[in-house]
Amino acid sequence: DVVHLKPLIVKKDEPEVDDGKKKVTVFFGTQTGTAEGFAKALAEEAKARYEKAVFKVVDLDDYAQDDDEYEERLKKETIALFFVATYGDGEPTDNAARFYKWFSEGKEREAWIPNLQFGVFGLGNRQYEHFNKVAIVVDEILAAQGGKRLVSVGLGDDDQCIEDDFTAWREMVWPELDKLLLDEDDATSVSTPYTAAVPEYRVVFHDISDASAQDKNLSNANGHTTPDIQHPSRANIAVRRELHTPASDRSCTHLEFDISGTGVFYETGDHVGVYSENSIEYVEEAEKLLGFSPDTFFSIHIDNEDGTPRGGSSLAPPFPSPCTLRAALTRYADLLNSPKKAALMALASQATNPSEADRLKFLASPAGKDEYAQWVVASQRSLLEVMTEFPSAKPSLGVFFAAVAPRLQPRFYSISSSPSMAPTRIHVTSALVYEKTPTGRIHKGVCSTWMKNSVPLEENSGCSSAPIFVRQSNFKLPTNTSLPIIMIGPGTGLAPFRGFLQERLALKNAGTELGPAILFFGCRNRNMDYIYEDELNGFVEAGALTELVVAFSREGPNKQYVQHKMTERASDIWNMISQGGYLYVCGDAKGMAKDVHRTLHTIVQEQGSLDNSKTEMMVKNMQMDGRYLRDVW
Ligand code: 2AM
Repeated sequence: DVVHLKPLIVKKDEPEVDDGKKKVTVFFGTQTGTAEGFAKALAEEAKARYEKAVFKVVDLDDYAQDDDEYEERLKKETIALFFVATYGDGEPTDNAARFYKWFSEGKEREAWIPNLQFGVFGLGNRQYEHFNKVAIVVDEILAAQGGKRLVSVGLGDDDQCIEDDFTAWREMVWPELDKLLLDEDDATSVSTPYTAAVPEYRVVFHDISDASAQDKNLSNANGHTTPDIQHPSRANIAVRRELHTPASDRSCTHLEFDISGTGVFYETGDHVGVYSENSIEYVEEAEKLLGFSPDTFFSIHIDNEDGTPRGGSSLAPPFPSPCTLRAALTRYADLLNSPKKAALMALASQATNPSEADRLKFLASPAGKDEYAQWVVASQRSLLEVMTEFPSAKPSLGVFFAAVAPRLQPRFYSISSSPSMAPTRIHVTSALVYEKTPTGRIHKGVCSTWMKNSVPLEENSGCSSAPIFVRQSNFKLPTNTSLPIIMIGPGTGLAPFRGFLQERLALKNAGTELGPAILFFGCRNRNMDYIYEDELNGFVEAGALTELVVAFSREGPNKQYVQHKMTERASDIWNMISQGGYLYVCGDAKGMAKDVHRTLHTIVQEQGSLDNSKTEMMVKNMQMDGRYLRDVW
C-alpha cells in the first residue's frame, strides 16, 4: 500500500540501530506451536520485506532467566511483537507463565518502557469464558507502562479460522512497520506481494541395515534432572482398567504410569503431559498416501549440505532422527486434526495435477474463506481425509514433516492420584474420545485411544510406555487443613479430587485434624459411568470426605446436573464459604464450569442477600485469594 510509504521521519523514539539495522523482537508464548508458527511466518515475511531490519523470534521462556533480566532486556527493546495464547481458565501457556506472572503482577510500575513500540496478537477460543485474556492483559500493561501501541490487539479465535485472524492482523502491522523500517527507496520492493516459500527439511535416506540405532530415543534416561515438555521421560504403564460397566456405550480408562526411576515427581493437583502414539491404521494410511514403505530409514536436517541454514526461520525444530517412516508417523505427525491453510498451500506446491493445485490454493486463499470454513473446519476433515481427496499432491517427506503435518502434541491430564498414597505412580482418568464427524468418519482421540489400547505391565512384561512430564498447577488443597472445601467435578472432572481425597486420607491417618469436605459428582447413570464408586464411598467411611452428592443426568425424566444439586445445598455451600472455605471446579469449561459459575453467583447473591455488584466482588475476591480454583478444559 503506497500511501504508507512516506519518507522515514527520524523521531526521538527511533528504534535502536545495530550494524545499521533496526531490531525487531517477535515473542511467542506457545503450547501447540501455533503462536510460534505465526511468529516465525511473520518474521520470515518481514525479512524479505525489510532489508534494513533484523527480526528475532524469541521464546518468552528463553528470553530471560529471572524477573530482573526480563525488565533489563525489555527496557532495551524498541519494536516488539507478541504472539501469546490463552488456555484453560484464562491462563498463559507454560513457556509464557514466568513472563506473564512477572509482567501482570507489576501492573503498578511506572512508565518504564517509553521507547517500546509494540503489537500483540492473541490466540484464544471464543467458546471459553476468558477469551484471549493473556493477550488483552499484556497489551493493556504494555500501553499503561509507557509502550506505544502500533496496532490494536489482535484477537485470534480458534473456534473460527485463526489463520484468517492472523492474516488480517498482519495486514494492519505492515503499514506501521513500513513507517518505522522502510526508507523511501525501499518503496518499490514492497509493492510486489510476498509469497512465503514452503518450508522443507533436507532429507537424507539411510541404509535400512543401520536401523538398529532407531530406537535410541526409547531409553528412560532423558539426560535432564527434571523432565519437562521438551525433555520428557519414558514411563511404563503398570495398570490399566476400564472404569465404565459393560452397560455403558462409552469408555473411560484408569491408567497408572510407573514413575520410579524416571526422575518424574508430582504433587496432588498437578497435570501430566503424555506423548502418545497414532493408531497403526492411520499410520498405514499415511504411508500409502505418501507412497513410501514403512521401513524407509531417513533423517531430517534444518541445514543445507554445505551447512548453511535452510528454509529461513520457519522450520520447526527437527524430531530425533534417523528413524523409520513408521516411527516418525507414529510418534511425531499429527494426522487427524484439520489441516491449516499453510498446510494446504504446501500440498498445493506438491500437486502434479494443476486442478488439484488450484483447488488447494483456493481453499487457502481469502476468496476461499467460506469454503475452507465449511469443507475443512466445520466438516472436521482430517489431514488424511484431505490428502485422500488430492491424490496428486504427494508431498516429499521433507515438505510433509516441515509444512503439512504439524508435530503431534502431548495431551494433558489432571492427575487422579496423590503422592501421599501413590509416590511412584501417576494415575490418569481418561474418557475415550470417539465421535462421528460430519463426513461420517469416526474420530478417535489419539491419546485416549492409545491409553485404552495400552498393555499394562501387570498383564505383560512387554508393556506399553510413553514419554511423560509433569506440569505444576495451583490447584491445591488449602494449607490450613481445617478449612472447609467444596469440590465440583462431574465425569472425568473427578480426577484431581480423587487425588485430593487420597491426600486427605493420608493426612487423617497421620492424625491431622480435617475440615469438612463435600464433593459434587455427576454422571449419566449409576449402573454405567459412576466411576470410582466404591473408592468414593470408602473415603466417606474413612472420614476423608464428609459428604458425597451425586447428580445422575440420565436416570429420571429430568436431567440432574451438579449445579442443580448445588442449588439444593445452597445454605451449606454459603456457610462453608463464609467460614473461609475453598471451592474447586474441575471438568468441561464450555458448558459445566460456566453453569456452575452462574449457580455459585446465584447462591452467594441469595444466601448473602447481596446486590449484583457486591456478589460479583465477593466471587472475584474468592478467585483473587485463591479460594475459588478451577481446572477446566
Ligand atoms: P449428560 O451427558 O447427560 O448431558 C459427566 O459428563 C456428566 O456431566 C454427565 O452426567 C453429563 O450429562 C453432565 N453434563 C453435561 N453438560 C453439563 C453442564 N452444562 N453442566 C453440568 N453437567 C453437565
